[in-house]
Amino acid sequence: NEKPTALIMIFGATGDLAKRKLFPSLYRLFEKDRLGDFAVIGVARRSLTNDEFQTSVNQSVNPEGVENDKLKEFVSKFYYHSHDVTDSDSYASLNTVAHELDNQYNLSGNRIFYLAMAPEFFGTIAEHLKTDGLTDAHGFKRLVIEKPFGHDLESAKKLNNQIRTAFTEDEIYRIDHYLGKEMVQNIEVIRFANSIFEPLWNNRFISNIQVTSSETLGVEERGRYYEKSGALRDMVQNHMLQMVSLLAMEPPISLTTDEIRSEKVRVFRALRPIKGNEVNEYFVRGQYGKGLLEEKKVPAYNEEDMVDPESNTETFVAGKLMIDNFRWAGVPFYIRTGKRMEAKTTKIVVEFKDMPMDLYNRQEGSVRPNLLVIHIQPEEGITLYLNAKKAGQFMNSTPVKLSYANKGIDGLNTPEAYEKLLYDCLRGDATNFTHWDEVALSWSFVDNISAVWEKEKEQNFPNYEAGSMGPKAADALLDKDGHFWWPVT
Ligand code: BG6
Repeated sequence: NEKPTALIMIFGATGDLAKRKLFPSLYRLFEKDRLGDFAVIGVARRSLTNDEFQTSVNQSVNPEGVENDKLKEFVSKFYYHSHDVTDSDSYASLNTVAHELDNQYNLSGNRIFYLAMAPEFFGTIAEHLKTDGLTDAHGFKRLVIEKPFGHDLESAKKLNNQIRTAFTEDEIYRIDHYLGKEMVQNIEVIRFANSIFEPLWNNRFISNIQVTSSETLGVEERGRYYEKSGALRDMVQNHMLQMVSLLAMEPPISLTTDEIRSEKVRVFRALRPIKGNEVNEYFVRGQYGKGLLEEKKVPAYNEEDMVDPESNTETFVAGKLMIDNFRWAGVPFYIRTGKRMEAKTTKIVVEFKDMPMDLYNRQEGSVRPNLLVIHIQPEEGITLYLNAKKAGQFMNSTPVKLSYANKGIDGLNTPEAYEKLLYDCLRGDATNFTHWDEVALSWSFVDNISAVWEKEKEQNFPNYEAGSMGPKAADALLDKDGHFWWPVT
């Protein structure tokens, strides 16, 4: 059990992410005794005293207000620095505080800079961290950077060049929180630790793979960001493509960060680019209209706050990805994600090919293909659908289900994605963070699609009702290949 030591500076410490995810995750690590010596400097524009900041950390970790000594000790390690991200003096005084805390807590000059704030400042902050001396401490230095990593390939490159002036690639931890999810991490183990799957994991035996990540929430208060992003940039460029790369990659020769990442990169390189007039053949976009969700009426996307009533932004994307390599030639990977859908769920369905002939259900036709379902959230587990004999006199088959629920067996709550990712970063393990090459390749894939969608306004928006599984065209996308979306709810 490694117990890493570091000074953690959180930029955007008064923001939502810090309160909802970062402080609670750090606390869970602390409670489990995973952390060595550490201190946190909360950095944000607002002026706050250390006491006020500590109170807000306390509230976010412990909303019920139960007092305990562990929590008191935890909160006492938090300090606040009111900061102007463009002002060198502000960085100089931050550095003074950092040195003091480094001495006081024996932090060996190890520094983590966590950028949990508006992305327009990522580049500026990284540059200042270097020019104003914050990256000169004698221990390790790491930059953790939240999404969005750019808006397209060009802006991502620009941002990357800026942060690379201050940090090397292996000091940069680009967060994709899906990579911290227990069952996303499990994809690799299911594939590479089971001799019954890996030999079948190719175009000879797999018919298609379906990845769905649906949400019931709408755009909430994020209209301003989302209008410029849409589901393609918000979910597909990162989370969806990351899951596809884990499903499609070749077995790495070992589990090191470099080996795994380079296998993922090869998948991105094999992804068939979709251009111009092909876009509408491979991809479908949707925007939610009003509807009923959990028996409550909800407004249409174009009636939400900060959203243009004429908005051309997609809140739903379905697509067919082809991976042009020996293993996957001819096997479609269908992806689908959207807001205000019927259920909050992320699932992967691997559909195996049919047997050459159906011996058992000639009359009933109820034999179904073998499916392997990986439940990412909210349930975590695996279901394997097989066909077995239907009890009784005759030789008919019926689908049976073998299920494994993560929680049921371990009896533990799996740690939240952020908790794992923070711990990985503190330990210096970048495997579950995205390498620049992955980011660049996924942007260039997505840019072709957004270029067409931005140019051609979708006349039928809104085209799906809130509370549904998306527009009809998403079903037609599979239908024309002779497939359908397996139900996920
Ligand atoms: C974020 C997106 O990256 O992922 C959000 O910006 C989305 O729009 C969220 O709601 C979904 O994450 P999760 O973990 O709830 O599936």
